[in-house]
Amino acid sequence: MKRIVVLISGRGSNMQALLAAGIPLAAVISNRPDAGGLAIARDAGVATAVVDHRQYPDRASFDAALAACIDGFTPDLVVLAGFMRILTAEFTNRYAGRLINIHPSLLPAFTGLDTHRRAIDAGCRVHGCTVHFVTAELDHGPIIAQAAVPILDDDDESRLAARVLVQEHRLLPAAVRWCLAGGIEIRGMRVVNPAAASAPDAALRSPEPA
Ligand code: GRF
Repeated sequence: MKRIVVLISGRGSNMQALLAAGIPLAAVISNRPDAGGLAIARDAGVATAVVDHRQYPDRASFDAALAACIDGFTPDLVVLAGFMRILTAEFTNRYAGRLINIHPSLLPAFTGLDTHRRAIDAGCRVHGCTVHFVTAELDHGPIIAQAAVPILDDDDESRLAARVLVQEHRLLPAAVRWCLAGGIEIRGMRVVNPAAASAPDAALRSPEPA
């Protein structure tokens, strides 16, 4: 069986969506000892670990400790699911092609933080989420899948975030399954994924999760 390690920093609802989809996890690792998702993982019988970034003097030493912890679980795939740390190029290169992230915007728009507020402020009519391979450039790697939602006239940040989160919880398990199935090819910034059903009518989620 393929081994998946998930990195979280907070409540862990995307990690929980993987478990709910029946995807077994080898371990959940957090950079914050108080991350709510750790208890969810433990209750589900998943191994957990904490590598507290505050215990390390700089990014390089934190990333080295994090990599040592991850490698102890011999993962085939590492999933950043609400992991709120910027990673060094050394770290992202070590896991090139087997490190993915879920980001709450339609990349390449709105990299970084406060994506929902920024999408509303920019007057966007659609917004969404992206699962992508992680490269050294923050929120810029090859895109595996995206889902879009409308922005409604009376939306505020929290209403929009909730609408996007529903799609995150569908998209991430689908993307993880595709990565585990193999056959994904990265061509520059493009991801070619023969396992994804082609559903031209499903314009708001692409590719449509099987
Ligand atoms: C999600 O919106 C994810 O896209 C972003 O941080 C949030 C984490 O939520 N990177 P959760 O911890 O998975 O509930």
